[in-house]
Amino acid sequence: MTRWSTRLERLPSYAIHELAVIKRRLLAEGADVIDLGAGDADFPPPPEAVEALHSALADPAMSRYPFQIGLPEFRQAAARYIERRFGVTFDATKELIPLLGSKEGLAHLGLAVLDPGDVCIVPDPGYPAYIGGALLADAEPELVPLVREKDFLVELEELPAERLARTGLVYLNYPNNPTAAVAPLDYLARTVEVCRRHDIVLAYDNPYCEITYDGYRAPSIFEVEGARDVAIEFHSLSKTFSMTGWRLAWAIGNPELIGALHKAKTYVDSGVFLAVQKAGAVVLDRAESLAPPLVARFAERRDAAVRALEEIGLPVDAPRGTMYLWVPLPGGVSTAEFAREALEREGVLFMPGTAFGAGGEGYFRIALTVERERVIEAIHRAARTLERLGASGA
Ligand SMILES: Cc1ncc(COP(=O)(O)O)c(C=O)c1O
Repeated sequence: MTRWSTRLERLPSYAIHELAVIKRRLLAEGADVIDLGAGDADFPPPPEAVEALHSALADPAMSRYPFQIGLPEFRQAAARYIERRFGVTFDATKELIPLLGSKEGLAHLGLAVLDPGDVCIVPDPGYPAYIGGALLADAEPELVPLVREKDFLVELEELPAERLARTGLVYLNYPNNPTAAVAPLDYLARTVEVCRRHDIVLAYDNPYCEITYDGYRAPSIFEVEGARDVAIEFHSLSKTFSMTGWRLAWAIGNPELIGALHKAKTYVDSGVFLAVQKAGAVVLDRAESLAPPLVARFAERRDAAVRALEEIGLPVDAPRGTMYLWVPLPGGVSTAEFAREALEREGVLFMPGTAFGAGGEGYFRIALTVERERVIEAIHRAARTLERLGASGA
């Protein structure tokens, strides 16, 4: 007999799985598939990372258990990067922890700070690890719709006081996946203030802080006064350095919050492969020269995509951050049907808005993960899909 928990039953199914099955079948049939689904760009990792990993592999010490303490060199490089980039200082030993990708840390944070029945505020649409973090800890997710009219911001003050009083954790992410919205500093300041007043842990997920355009600079939550009392911030090498598969990230925050996550993780994992941490340290010390060329390539793709969307009658504002475009569908077109039809009939994989929660209905997400010409081709295929569905752009 197989049994599973009610907790597991409450987890929404990961929407991309169905599309992945269709994609595999199409590829097996020899179809020309363009995949703009996952946020996993086609750029190679930095050669410096590959070289550092190679040499680290030859050192037997790197093959030992990393445990949560990990490689001091990586902790120090991450703390130095944070200080150079945001002007804030964190103790590399007590206020920073390496993670097996930020997804892991975000999801495990719930186990560290939430009790069953606590409320956990989750943006909808939002990165799925947030609702996962809430549900795996038997907390009650409070889904807050991200809507264009409110610049896709979560305004905590608008929630009923009774809910805020029961809230233990809020997940926020700007530059935002999937909406590509960015958050002004005054918004972050009033959010920190509400969290302090209600004793809410603020998980600030910042993996896209380097992928910004047109002179926009994404802040750290720790640029806000008082944030250290309540916030924990997540950073990742995945997107900035095209190292998604390496599974290397870190969190920073006050020693109590980092200690709580450390304790929970101690019972779940034994740390990130030390050789990977060694390579990560090399990359972070060169962040200022490695990130900009990648961002310039994303910017070219973004500009081409914005133009192509305009041409097919689906205008979007050029995003100031992330590798995504959050595109409104013409009225009446269901995002799941659009995504399925686009893949089945045109061989192009877009993320349906509802892959990020019910609040994503009416939108689809384009990830700028392939060459410019292919992004443009994918957008032309989107136009044909809309025609076939009896809709076309505005
Ligand atoms: C908002 C957000 N947070 C976290 C992650 C996870 O990144 P990592 O590869 O560090 O686990 C992603 C990946 O898509 C993301 O979009």
